[in-house]
Amino acid sequence: MQWKTFALSLALAAQNVQSSPASGLEARQFAQAAMMRFQCSQLVLDRIDPLVEPGSAPSAHLHQIVGGNSFNISMKSLEYDPSTLSTCTTCDYSEDFSNYWTANLYFRARNGTFKRVPQMVNLGLSGREGVTVYYIPPYDGKSKVTAFPRGFRMLAGDATKRSKEGMQKQICHRCFSNKQQNPFGGAPCTGDDTVELPKKMCGGGIRTTITFPTCWDGVNLDSPSHKEHVAYPTSGSFESGGACPSTHPVKLPQLMYEVMWDTTVFNDKNLWPESGSQPFVYSMGDGTGYGQHGDYLFGWKDGVLQKALDARCSGNACKTLKTQTANQATQCSKAQAVKEPVNEWLTKLPGDQTVTF
Ligand SMILES: *[C@@H]1O[C@H](CO)[C@@H](O)[C@H](O)[C@H]1NC(C)=O
Ligand SMILES: *[C@@H]1O[C@H](CO)[C@@H](O)[C@H](O)[C@H]1NC(C)=O
Repeated sequence: MQWKTFALSLALAAQNVQSSPASGLEARQFAQAAMMRFQCSQLVLDRIDPLVEPGSAPSAHLHQIVGGNSFNISMKSLEYDPSTLSTCTTCDYSEDFSNYWTANLYFRARNGTFKRVPQMVNLGLSGREGVTVYYIPPYDGKSKVTAFPRGFRMLAGDATKRSKEGMQKQICHRCFSNKQQNPFGGAPCTGDDTVELPKKMCGGGIRTTITFPTCWDGVNLDSPSHKEHVAYPTSGSFESGGACPSTHPVKLPQLMYEVMWDTTVFNDKNLWPESGSQPFVYSMGDGTGYGQHGDYLFGWKDGVLQKALDARCSGNACKTLKTQTANQATQCSKAQAVKEPVNEWLTKLPGDQTVTF
């Protein structure tokens, strides 16, 4: 387990950002916090979305989905329990049948065709393309958080956004100058991280971070926009122990996704637009990055996540939890429900999205 390597790079990163006291503090806390951080490899690339467009096949845009293999067109809250319906999961923690899904990134060539950007596995983890999932308890090391209940789901970000105004916080991109990710650059969404897709060539690829709200109304498992039942702390941040609003008093762990895009395979000035503008576009036709979003559908085996949070589990191998090897995890997959090409050179994005840069 290379969790130590990762923690060390965070610790080094924390030292590197001391010129900026606020982000330095955050980076140090981030480095020292016990947090679950694990790989969930790709289950399928598919144009279905049981949260935002249940019953639709195809849904509007293409996603990459990771987690339990019971993922399907419709997954009605409570009636459809991924932890009993799935027979395998692509996550390191083998009792996590949740589904986590995000947009895909494409490269647009000068001739207007699109090619999917391959992914890298994050530092210290193994598997195939997918999502790094974090469940982060408060940094103080002792306050309790309530695990998501069965049937819970939520959405972070807004796929239709093409400008910065009203953007949800803590969704961002990091442009790595090399594959060693050195200097690492501190906690997510600090330092040089940008809300938009990086405008320059990144020698080590691009990481995107999607962070979910941490306060819950304690009643609703979902809501019309999949957002109203959750909220951000009223003041300060989750990290700094900021209080939840009275309307959403229940403190949740901080769920966070990271996706690593290996954009380096397209790092050639002759492939980029003559104007020098960046050529990457998300599967909803978003070349700005403001439409970045993540979907979550809880599916841990009963009681397991709470136990892990109470035990302050860290990394991807905790004594309290059952795990599986990357070899086992990557044997889990699922056929596309909407069969269409997604990996070859495409003349249009799946669903024929309007592209905005
Ligand atoms: C998904 O749903 C379809 C029909 O709604 C069903 O035929 C199929 O068996 C389901 N697949 C899984 C993996 O549950
Ligand atoms: C479009 O450009 C890409 C990248 O240069 C190339 O690989 C692809 O074959 C081209 N497609 C067509 C139809 O010319």
